[in-house]
Amino acid sequence: MQVASGLNMQEEGRRILTALYGTLNALKLYPVENATVQQALDELHALMEKIVRVEGSAEIRIVGDFFFLNETRLRLDLTNFATFGSFARALQDHGIGAVEVFPGIDRSEWAPFVSMLLRKPTSDEPFGAFMDRFASAPVEHIDLRPERDVQEPEDHESLTAAKRTYAQSVKVAKDVLGDVRLGKAVNVRKVKRAVQGIVDQVLSNEASLITMTTLRDFDEYTFTHSVNVCIFSVVIGQRLGFDKMQLYDLGLGALFHDIGKQRVDYDIINKPGRLTDEEWIQLKEHTTEGLLLLFRMHGFSDMPYRQMLMAYEHHMKIDLTGYPQNKRARDLTLFSKIVAVADAFDAGTSVRSYQYEPRPPDEVLKEMRDNPKRGFDPVLVKALITATGVYPVGTLCILDTHELAVVAQVNPNPDLLHRPRVKVISDSMGVPLGETVTLDLAKDDPATGRPVRTIIKTTDPQKYGIRVSDYLIA
Ligand SMILES: [Fe+2]
Ligand SMILES: [Fe+2]
Repeated sequence: MQVASGLNMQEEGRRILTALYGTLNALKLYPVENATVQQALDELHALMEKIVRVEGSAEIRIVGDFFFLNETRLRLDLTNFATFGSFARALQDHGIGAVEVFPGIDRSEWAPFVSMLLRKPTSDEPFGAFMDRFASAPVEHIDLRPERDVQEPEDHESLTAAKRTYAQSVKVAKDVLGDVRLGKAVNVRKVKRAVQGIVDQVLSNEASLITMTTLRDFDEYTFTHSVNVCIFSVVIGQRLGFDKMQLYDLGLGALFHDIGKQRVDYDIINKPGRLTDEEWIQLKEHTTEGLLLLFRMHGFSDMPYRQMLMAYEHHMKIDLTGYPQNKRARDLTLFSKIVAVADAFDAGTSVRSYQYEPRPPDEVLKEMRDNPKRGFDPVLVKALITATGVYPVGTLCILDTHELAVVAQVNPNPDLLHRPRVKVISDSMGVPLGETVTLDLAKDDPATGRPVRTIIKTTDPQKYGIRVSDYLIA
């Protein structure tokens, strides 16, 4: 599309968003006749008119955290997030997911449309109310689509892609770790390909892949854990500005971080009860065993030093306590500190053989961030939280209405990480709903100006006999 039309859609898209934001702000402050407003309208119209002329029509769409201009997903960085975020909120307040502009658009149509966006919604069905008023506005060539129409198909598609990547990676982990246990040669190239798949998915479709980590399967723990730790490590690395090659390196070490467990007795790894002291000593050996296994592994072009250190250091704390024990000072590598955070988060939220009760993900994160005794680098924990939100996807919550809800999507606005999108699964009496209802907790009730619902507490899905992934992954 970009090449065919000769337009740089990235550039044009960002300019359009800036112009829309400018017009919105100008109209907020000044009457329509004002020169600032007129200038903003000129600019907006010129940009839109150009796209419509070249492409046949222009559609600005918000899907999840992203803006699209026609088929191009606009790359926005954090610095312009505030700007575009406030335009996104103006649309979302009215339940609008897409704005489509058709040939014949006249400059006079923009002011009435943008002014309408500025009015606060007063109905709990904001899109319908907006469209009722919009029908009588002098606007002929702009059409709107509700949020729900725009979200669903894309979500479905990206979940399907994420599911494929996830399932494939778990299979590779299973094959490879199985080979290690049997003492067979490992196909390193296959693992590298799986890690590349994960990195690519994190870069294009992070939220969907994070959703997959809720598919924890008790029987497959060792394999899903390796893949989950790989995903969370790459998510953190990306937040730190790693490039693709660094993310591959990091992901590879993360996938292999517990490889040494394949040299520990199977009965210890899967023991349903508490471990004895002797068994603990053996389990702790998985760090050194991991280092040695990677040292001897064929198929790397260079010695995988970073990955060896990740296997060896991932249970060390930043004060160098933890295990294996240190006799002299050392610097933990950044890669090791990242995998330690990813590992603890996934392990802390999973049902494992030697840990019956997983804790709600928000508690695990809070403890990791706030309790220095845990020994994680707080900057890295915070980086993880910007991706997972305060209430990670899959957290089961009790709302202030006593309804039960599963967190479905993190709020992309860094100020609203505690107000995710949730799926309500049972009513205030505890009766399961036939069909779940999606609620955006970042939204305020127009009648009261207060949040539609708030989370009062998180809880354990097992207590309710619920598998959260059933509600998130079709
Ligand atoms: Fe480990
Ligand atoms: Fe682990």
